[in-house]
Amino acid sequence: MNIKKVCVIGGGLMGRQIALNTAIYPYEVTIFDANPAVLEDVAKWEDSYLAGRIAKGRMTEEQVAGIRSRFTICSTLEEACKDVDLVIEAIVERKDIKSMVFKQVDALVRPDTIIATNSSRMVSSTFKNDVSHPERLANLHYFNPALVMKLVEVVQGDHCSEETAQALYDFAANTGKDPVWMKKELDGFVANRILQAIYTEARWMVEQGYCTPQEVDIACEKGLNHPMGPFRLNDLTGLDLAYDILQRKYDESGEKPIGYDLIKSYYDKGWFGKKAGRGFYEYESK
Ligand SMILES: NC(=O)c1ccc[n+]([C@@H]2O[C@H](COP(=O)([O-])OP(=O)(O)OC[C@H]3O[C@@H](n4cnc5c(N)ncnc54)[C@H](O)[C@@H]3O)[C@@H](O)[C@H]2O)c1
Repeated sequence: MNIKKVCVIGGGLMGRQIALNTAIYPYEVTIFDANPAVLEDVAKWEDSYLAGRIAKGRMTEEQVAGIRSRFTICSTLEEACKDVDLVIEAIVERKDIKSMVFKQVDALVRPDTIIATNSSRMVSSTFKNDVSHPERLANLHYFNPALVMKLVEVVQGDHCSEETAQALYDFAANTGKDPVWMKKELDGFVANRILQAIYTEARWMVEQGYCTPQEVDIACEKGLNHPMGPFRLNDLTGLDLAYDILQRKYDESGEKPIGYDLIKSYYDKGWFGKKAGRGFYEYESK
């Protein structure tokens, strides 16, 4: 499976960066979004990002001209999917909408085209009935910001062939990433499961009064060499998001998750983290 031309669907936070990263390496890329305003914004963002790389001396004019020539913004899905070897779906995290898009894509691509989803949570088998060739369907999970973060997780479900997973692994490696290959599907994939385990343990120790959030962070940063402890990281990603996740778990299982009371006590005060000026730490600038 020789990937040469790639289509990215979704021009939001993740899609535009995945697409531009792909064009840099150098693959031919098309990008499509259902919202024309997003596509206009992608064009402006591409201009300013590439101009910035030249200004900082990180890219030459010639390199940027090459990237531009390989990066095509498309106003229809048909045009974006034309003759591509790989489709990377990076649209809104809604199962019904993703399912609809996979059906549309399936009708437009060649039978040997690989279809991948960048979903944060949904394993690709969720969509295996939406495509004619589930053996060419897998997760390809990037991290934010996708132009910078090196990890990409390839997740191979039972429906997915070894060749497809290998092609995605090679593609990720060829586009400057350090991929990992999960041979079985698992909710949350690798990195977010590890992070979740750290969050749970850290919150439990604080809730039980063993230590403060700041002491947990010192232990992780100074003893384990983590660049950031879990509470400092949670302040950055937002305690409102952390609360939403825990509330959803609580609603689904009926069992109060570890850390729920701790996070709720911050959430109720509006201490959502760095963006609110206060979370587990206080911030001068938001
Ligand atoms: N944000 C993150 O940190 C992160 C990290 C890893 C993975 N993800 C996953 O990446 C995907 C995209 O996330 P995001 O943060 O870029 O979201 P986003 O909201 O920034 O972008 C989503 C885009 O999808 C477009 N869209 C919606 N319906 C569409 C359709 N039918 N056809 C084409 N485009 C459509 C929207 O117009 C929007 O521009 C999600 O599945 C998310 O779970 C996000």
